[in-house]
Amino acid sequence: MASVVAILDVKGKTLIQRCYRDDLGEDDTLTYLERFMPLILDMEEEGQPVPPCFSSQGINYMHIRHSNLYLLALSRRNSNAAEIVIFLHSFVQVLIGYFKTLEEESIRDNFVIIYELMDEMLDFGYPQTTEIKMLLEFITQESNQLKAQIRPPKEITNAVSWRPEGIRYKKNEVFLDVVESVNILVNASGDVVRSEILGVVKMRCYLSGMPELRLGLNDKAMFESIGRGGKAVEMEDVQFHHCVRLSRFETNRTISFIPPDGDFDLMTYRLSTIVKPLIWVEAEIERHSETRVVYMVKVIAQYKRKSTANNVEIFVPVAPDADTPRFKQTSKGKVTYAPDRCGFVWTIKQLAGRQELIMRAQFGLPSVRNEEDAQKLRAPISVKYEISYFTVSGIQVRYLKVVEKSGYQALPWVRYITQNGDDYSLRTAHDKGSPPIRQTT
Ligand SMILES: *[C@@H]1O[C@H](CO)[C@@H](O)[C@H](O)[C@H]1NC(C)=O
Ligand SMILES: *[C@@H]1O[C@H](CO)[C@@H](O)[C@H](O)[C@H]1NC(C)=O
Repeated sequence: MASVVAILDVKGKTLIQRCYRDDLGEDDTLTYLERFMPLILDMEEEGQPVPPCFSSQGINYMHIRHSNLYLLALSRRNSNAAEIVIFLHSFVQVLIGYFKTLEEESIRDNFVIIYELMDEMLDFGYPQTTEIKMLLEFITQESNQLKAQIRPPKEITNAVSWRPEGIRYKKNEVFLDVVESVNILVNASGDVVRSEILGVVKMRCYLSGMPELRLGLNDKAMFESIGRGGKAVEMEDVQFHHCVRLSRFETNRTISFIPPDGDFDLMTYRLSTIVKPLIWVEAEIERHSETRVVYMVKVIAQYKRKSTANNVEIFVPVAPDADTPRFKQTSKGKVTYAPDRCGFVWTIKQLAGRQELIMRAQFGLPSVRNEEDAQKLRAPISVKYEISYFTVSGIQVRYLKVVEKSGYQALPWVRYITQNGDDYSLRTAHDKGSPPIRQTT
């Protein structure tokens, strides 16, 4: 039984991976995969033969090598290592059966289908079908594109109210955007007191005829009450477009549908898990004399280094009667005074993960300040942003199959976007000397 199966390149970089059980922990899995190559190199350096199965720090590594690739399975529990190694060999044979040759390029070019195969061949980490003839019957491909092979369901012959017959496109394409909006409220102590993720799966279908689509999501996208083990992110308020066959979803969680033509929202969902603010902002307010106030604003990108937030807009409120703004430009971004909104806006086109930036703003305050006014100065900061290739919930599209009786090929394009919701507020403006406690991972 394997918790994770991955294919790595000759340098040990993961090309594709599939988690079957979550006993390794999501973040740690990456670490274990990264550790594999150094472990191999250590053994080679010491002149030891590298066994197909070995353990390190409580993790079992089982692998085989094929041309310039490593096929690796990880488990924490005592597994039947021989069975896994045999499985890896069959996996190689299946991939060769599908792609003729198996090398790095074939992995990159056939990502979707390999993911699907990995899904079919192991269930919860237990090897299932490894018989290529059987696999070829339901997972089909032509070069790197998905191809229609499955018989169109009978329903197709009946009228589909949301889709006219006879639609024709020269190029059959389908675009799928998974957009997650994060609402969050951080209180003055720096604690997340409320947060939610609102997700929507948007589609744009430019497909001829009466296509039948099937969408596969990763295991993280578990819906309420589905207890297949594993760490399920509980989705609440899941709603589908009326084209989705709910009965099929109820029985085996398959999202299958004949799409309307053009744009529509396939599905919306909500997650009320507590999330850490991806973009943290705090402002230190320093009052000099009774007539001048200085804001030191700090932004911290609390997401992985390889991600980037685009069009970041940080709004810091100031007193309505503040005047003579002076901004000390930071190394990044642009600051503008927005008197109509009683605040100033710091815009940063691109904010890389783990980056920290500081900005200084100064205002004159004509009236004398009391504690009540000081309170107003500490109004919540709000943030807008957009991060691509990333979902906070961890939801991912594993495959999107398009099947049409004429057998055309359709290319699916998938994008992920995480952005601020309507309510992303941080009550983290504080007087100098009483900083909030920052939420860290
Ligand atoms: C912020 O929230 C935490 C947790 O709910 C609470 O313990 C703390 O007292 C709150 N701080 C303020 C200033 O409200
Ligand atoms: C799901 O159920 C439908 C019928 O209800 C069936 O046609 C389909 O093959 C099933 N899919 C899987 C993956 O089991």
